[in-house]
Parts: sequence; structure tokens; C-alpha cells
Amino acid sequence: MGRADNDEFDAAREMSARNRREPIISVRGVINRFGQQIVHDGVDLDVYPGEVLGIVGGSGSGKSVLLRTMLGLHRPNDGQVFVEGKDITKMPENELLAVKRRYGVTFQHGALFSSLSVAENVQLPIREYFDASPETLAKLTELRLRMVGLPLDAGPKLPSQLSGGMVKRAALARALALDPALLFLDEPTAGLDPISAAAFDDLVLYLQRGLHLTVVMITHDLDTIVKTCDRVAVLVDRKMVVDTLDGIMRNQHPWIQEYFHGPRARAAQTAGSTR
Ligand SMILES: Nc1ncnc2c1ncn2[C@@H]1O[C@H](COP(=O)(O)OP(=O)(O)OP(=O)(O)O)[C@@H](O)[C@H]1O
Ligand SMILES: [Mg+2]
Repeated sequence: MGRADNDEFDAAREMSARNRREPIISVRGVINRFGQQIVHDGVDLDVYPGEVLGIVGGSGSGKSVLLRTMLGLHRPNDGQVFVEGKDITKMPENELLAVKRRYGVTFQHGALFSSLSVAENVQLPIREYFDASPETLAKLTELRLRMVGLPLDAGPKLPSQLSGGMVKRAALARALALDPALLFLDEPTAGLDPISAAAFDDLVLYLQRGLHLTVVMITHDLDTIVKTCDRVAVLVDRKMVVDTLDGIMRNQHPWIQEYFHGPRARAAQTAGSTR
């Protein structure tokens, strides 16, 4: 067999391995309505273990509502969400607790409790599930702060005493408190200057690789998408279009064309991909 044959063989084997992989999350036919407003009308989405999936869509297209649906925080009007094979949409709250223990999340609004110190914020999820001693809590907090690149003296500070970028890192430290398999980020770089945003992208990639995380990230930041995402899911017309970035770039849907080929998109792509 020549080299080309070998390559073809490898490619075919990789593809079949990919096809055999079970998704860690499967969204099927999800419908969400608020009164007369239909936000999702049959959304399908698979998230595979170890990938970084970016979710994109216009403001108000339902990205955050979809995230809450995948987290079991919002029950959809119809459809299913399977997390590690189990449908969470009709799961009783006590069973959902075990699912929630498996993921970490940073929300778009209200990243941290403003009346608690950074350390107390990080410790909150740990206290919820474990009866840890103060020494263990202190050690775990230190570890998490180091992981996200925060100085240890940030621990006793209140969120209002931190910069915007530090608040994002502290929220990430809290999301990682329980060693999650899955990390959900809703607009993690919004409001950061381009340099801080790029540093945050690097941090997410570093943690994702080091901790073997599966990451679902809502973002409007094209630089972040180009740099970090394996696949991109676009919410358009109340449904989901999912593909690799290259595939999405070739998609003819007018909103997708505008988003990925406008002047801002061209600047992001010129800056290049690191994946
Ligand atoms: N609890 C709720 N009650 C009523 N309407 C809601 C509720 N939550 C969300 N909506 C509506 O659902 C739509 C989608 O909201 P969502 O927050 O998911 O948008 P988004 O895509 O995250 O937008 P953005 O990019 O601005 O964050 C919006 O029109 C919003 O007003
Ligand atoms: Mg949102």
C-alpha cells in the first residue's frame, strides 16, 4: 500500500471512530415558547466528548435559553435533552442534582455573588455537595485560583474589587470547583479588551486540554470561534445549523453568510487559527 492509500485508510478509520463516538449531550426536537413567542422550534444538537463547541446566533435568538435547557434549569415545552444518555427534561429535581454535579457553568449575567469574597464564591459549589473541612476548602480554593491564573490575594477580595478580566477568571474558578466533565460558558469574553479576551481564550484551551473537558461556549466573538472551537452551532430561524467552521463558512444561509463573511469576520480569519 502506498502512502496515499495509507492516508486514505487512516482518514477512513478516523471517520468511523468519530461516527462511533457517543455524544455526551444530545438535544432532540426542543421547542421553547414564551407566550406567543416561539424561541426554539425543533432544535437538534449533539456535543461530543472532548470538543469545544461554539454556539452563535443573533441577540435574542435563544442561545442562553438553550443553554439553560441543556443544564436542566429550564424545562422545554417539548423535545428531549440527553446528558450522558439520560433524558433530563422530565427528570425529578433530586436526580437532576447528580447531573448538575457533572458540569460547571459561567452565566452571561451575574457571574459571581457580589456579597461573597472570591474564595467564598469558589467554595460555594463544594459546600453544596461535600462536608469539607476549612483546610480542605482553603487548599481547593488555592488550587482553583492558580488554575485560572489569579493571584492568591484575590481570594479575600469582593468581586467589585476585581477587574472585569479577573471576575471572568474567578467565575471560571467557581465553575471548575467540582472538577466537572463539562464546562458551559455564556459569552465568556464579552466586555473584555481584545488582549484580555485572547488571554482568556488561551486559558480555556489550556484547561480544556489539560482537564479533558468538553466545552460548550456561547460567544459572539469571531476571534474566539476561530481560535478555540472545533465545531460551530448557529441558531437561525429557531433551529440549529451545526458544522465545522469551514462547513459553516460555506453555508449559504443569508444570516450565516453575513455573520461569517462580513468585515469583522474577515479580520478575525486573517488573524488566523491556532487549532
Ligand atoms: N423567562 C423568560 N420569559 C419570557 N421570555 C424569555 C424568558 N427568557 C428568555 N426569553 C426570551 O427568549 C428570547 C431568547 O432569549 P435568550 O436570552 O436566550 O437570547 P440570546 O440568544 O441569549 O441573546 P443575547 O445574545 O442577547 O444574550 C428573547 O426574546 C427573550 O426575551
Ligand atoms: Mg444570551
